Order: sequence, then C-alpha cells, then structure tokens
Amino acid sequence: MDLLNSIDKERIPRHIAIIMDGNGRWAKERGEDRVYGHHEGVVSVREIVNTCGELGVGYLTLYAFSTENWNRPKEEVDALMELLVNTIRKEVEELKKNNVRLHVIGDFKSLPDVCQTELNEAIDITAENTGLNLILALSYSSKWEILEATKQIADKFKKGEIEEADITDELFHAHLSTAKYPDPELMIRTSGEHRISNYLLYQLAYAELYFTDVHWPDFRKQSLYEAILDYQRRERRFGKTSEQIQKNTAPHA
Ligand code: IPE
Ligand code: IPE
Ligand code: MG
Repeated sequence: MDLLNSIDKERIPRHIAIIMDGNGRWAKERGEDRVYGHHEGVVSVREIVNTCGELGVGYLTLYAFSTENWNRPKEEVDALMELLVNTIRKEVEELKKNNVRLHVIGDFKSLPDVCQTELNEAIDITAENTGLNLILALSYSSKWEILEATKQIADKFKKGEIEEADITDELFHAHLSTAKYPDPELMIRTSGEHRISNYLLYQLAYAELYFTDVHWPDFRKQSLYEAILDYQRRERRFGKTSEQIQKNTAPHA
C-alpha cells in the first residue's frame, strides 16, 4: 500500500514537533561510537525537512539539544556542537533554495560563539523564505522557557504595564520563545521512550503524541508518512463528545 497516497493532503498537521531520540543506541547496535549515530541522524533530519516541505507542513520543530544534554561527556557535547556548525554551514544554501526558513528556540547565548555566529547567518540567509519554518530547539528546556515568560510577565505587572486580568493564555503564549508559531498538532518521539523530556510542555497541551520504536537515524520518509497517517486516524475531541465532533465534520448535503 502506498502510504503517501493514503495521506489526506487537506489534513496535514500544520506544525509537527519531533524528539529525535536514539542516535546513541542506533550506533551501539552497530558497534560504533555514539557520535557516528549523531552523524547518521543528520541524514534523517535532511530527509524529514525535505518531506515536510513536500507535504506542505508549515512548521517543523526539532529537538536537537536539551539543556540537560549539557551534562553528557564533554567529548560528546563538543562533537554535537561541531556537527551543528558543520551541518548548518553545509546545508544553508539548500535550505535557501528549498524555501525553508530557519529559526532557533532555546537559551541561544549558552551555545558556543561559533554556533551562534553560524546560526545567525543561516537565520539571516533564509529570512525571506516563505515555505517550511524549521525551528531548531537548541539548549532548550521547556521549564526554563516557562520561567522566563513568567519573569517577563511579572516585570510588566510590576511596572504597571499590564493588569492581572491581562494574563491570559494568549498573553502567556506571546511571551514564550514559540510566540510566532502555532502549537504543534503532532509530537513524534523516536526510539521507544514514552516521555516528553522537558520539551514544549505548554505548547503540547493538546498535541497528539506519537511514539515509535524506530531510532532516529532510521526514521525516514516512510516513517513520517506512518506517523501522519496515525495522526489522521485519530479523533481530536478537545473535551467535546465524539457525537459533537462527528456532527461538525459530517459532509454537507
Ligand atoms: C538523540 O539521541 C540526540 C540527542 C539527544 C542529541 P541520543 O543521543 O539521546 O541517543 P540515545 O537515546 O542515547 O540512544
Ligand atoms: C531528548 O532526548 C533531547 C533531544 C532529543 C535533543 P534525551 O535522550 O536527551 O532524553 P532522555 O534523557 O532520554 O529523557
Ligand atoms: Mg536519548
């Protein structure tokens, strides 16, 4: 069965968020160093970015490095930062050509200077692109992001710029690093772990969660099609009853 043809092109998630997990285990299974897995993971990133572009996905957020990942052995952290710089450098022209616009969320200033420079350049080069928005979560922690938003809001309150009644979901959202993006409808985690690992806690409030045992370096086009098909088979009720949803989606006579 051709998976691509089974996908309803009218109901492609507007925003997909992915926890790219399992590079280390993938490499270990092959008797290789963990860093080899990260390199192969980049091949998956390229393919998934292209596939999202082809499908007309509006936003793709990739968890590339968490705040907690700073606690990994120094050699691995250094290798990951080097891989990030080299990948951005190598891929930026391709991103530009493919109409992909790059964004970064996370504690940008905690990244090594060379990463910041390379990323800023790539963000500028792709700034006019109007296709897929590729959002890299780097040195990202959702708890950190929520606390930062809370501090900014508290400061505005203290200065009398806002009142308590102004603190709505909308206002809170506007203070997150994802303020410019819609919330993800679909969150995919590869490699078998069933947890969120400090990722987009506020934004995933009503996302459909999809977990697969496939390690990230093996997660390619077909795996993404499977995830989207699984998403399209679900009924998104947002607290309502199934009957209410079906009445609203029934084809008009
Ligand atoms: C995901 O793969 C990549 C990063 C977190 C940077 P892992 O490196 O977490 O791989 P496993 O989970 O140890 O297999
Ligand atoms: C989450 O994966 C972070 C990224 C994919 C960048 P981890 O492998 O770091 O998460 P845990 O440690 O299994 O929760
Ligand atoms: Mg992992």
